[in-house]
Amino acid sequence: MLADIVEYLACPVCAHEVRLAGDTLRCAEGHAFDVAKQGYVSLLVGSRTPGTADSAAMVAARAEFLGAGHYAPLADALAESVRLRIQSANGREGDAFRRDRFSALPDAAAEKAYRSAAVAREAGAARQEAGHAEEPVIVDAGAGTGYYLATVLRAVDRGIGMAFDVSKHAVRRAARAHPRVGAFVADVWRPLPIRDGVADIVIDVFAPRNGPEFRRILRPGGVVVVVTPARAHLSPLVQELGLLSVDEEKERRLARSLEGFEEADRRTVEFDLELDPGEVAGVVGMGPSAWHTEATELAKRISSYVSRETAKKREKVVARAAFQLSIFEASPRSRAVP
Ligand SMILES: C[S@@+](CC[C@H](N)C(=O)[O-])C[C@H]1O[C@@H](n2cnc3c(N)ncnc32)[C@H](O)[C@@H]1O
Ligand SMILES: [Zn+2]
Repeated sequence: MLADIVEYLACPVCAHEVRLAGDTLRCAEGHAFDVAKQGYVSLLVGSRTPGTADSAAMVAARAEFLGAGHYAPLADALAESVRLRIQSANGREGDAFRRDRFSALPDAAAEKAYRSAAVAREAGAARQEAGHAEEPVIVDAGAGTGYYLATVLRAVDRGIGMAFDVSKHAVRRAARAHPRVGAFVADVWRPLPIRDGVADIVIDVFAPRNGPEFRRILRPGGVVVVVTPARAHLSPLVQELGLLSVDEEKERRLARSLEGFEEADRRTVEFDLELDPGEVAGVVGMGPSAWHTEATELAKRISSYVSRETAKKREKVVARAAFQLSIFEASPRSRAVP
């Protein structure tokens, strides 16, 4: 898979293109990055992994929880949004080559517009002939185990997935998430090791968002699909366990953190979760409280809540999952001039 993805990568040191030579990615300046035996590549530069990287235990808890299918309705909703977006983008491209689309223009202008669309189409065809199928490129920033990216790739049936995360424990798993995924250790807060204008879609599920970098790597017409927890997420667990709740400012922060983008669409995805005691611990361990509350204190609160619930003869704890799924388009004012 890596061989098909290399053309979209940029050297994290000098930003030049890289090539795969044996088990090493190398740029013309001689910067080299080994492919790990698990199939991922660390493109992290600098000596320290940022403190926000998920630990091995957090990644294992996430993999188990997601593997049990609890968030499958969210993954499916995300995949459907991406599929529709790609489908409509393809429709628009196909449309651009229809001569009658230009017929409302004065003759000379129509001919010019048609010709330039035809040039674009020929460039696409040339890429295809050169073996670069016009496959949509989907970048997952803060991909974790690659669970969402894999669901998206299954839904779009063509397309290349690039998973980036700063945690090598996460990236190891992401590398195995789907045959069309390439997985890389990288810090979303630094220049992404991706070439300009190559991504059709960036997905970002509960992970840091770097607006200017997302803007740089997207093709014209590309979008960022962002998933964040909604206010009702994990009620009543949040109240019962005294967890960190979605803060009131979050939505405004989200808009600010995607400076240069406009929210073109937003929907809420909600469903019930039925959790056994271990899974309550799992879902809490995946959220921000795992970072901010002492583990033994959390475990104590969970066990007392679960025993109160089971005393009511309930085998499972029911909680609400609630998310915002937003699509961001580059705002016209900041669109790069071709
Ligand atoms: C809440 S998890 C979400 C993971 C995945 N999107 C999912 O929903 O399963 C946040 C992820 O962001 C990663 N992360 C945190 N800081 C990062 C950074 N600066 N650059 C890249 N990834 C980062 C963490 O390692 C973690 O895997
Ligand atoms: Zn280089």
